[in-house]
Amino acid sequence: MTTLTIMPSATALAVSEGDNLLAVLNAAGAPIRTKCGGEGNCGKCHIFVTEGRKGLSKISREENATLDTIVGVGSKSRLACQTTILGTEDVTVEILSFV
Ligand code: FES
Repeated sequence: MTTLTIMPSATALAVSEGDNLLAVLNAAGAPIRTKCGGEGNCGKCHIFVTEGRKGLSKISREENATLDTIVGVGSKSRLACQTTILGTEDVTVEILSFV
C-alpha cells in the first residue's frame, strides 16, 4: 500500500498495486473529463507526475503516440487511463484538465 497525492487539492489517499490511476482519480472526485472512456485515445486524462514516477507502470508505445498529439506535454506527462500503480513508492500527480 502506497500513498497517492493529488494536486492542486493536496488530497492524499492509499492506493494498491494494480490500481488504474484514472479509476483512482475518479473515485477520489478529481475533475478529469474523458472522451474515449479510458481507451488511451483522447488525451483528456493528461496529468503530470511530479513525484514517484518509478511507482507507476512504464509508458507504452500507444500511450506515447497519444501524448505526442497533446499540446503542453513534458517529461512528467502521463495518461492516467493508461497508468497503473505499482505500489513500490508514493506518487504525486497534478491534475491538468478541468470539467
Ligand atoms: S481517457 Fe482518453 S486518453 Fe485517457
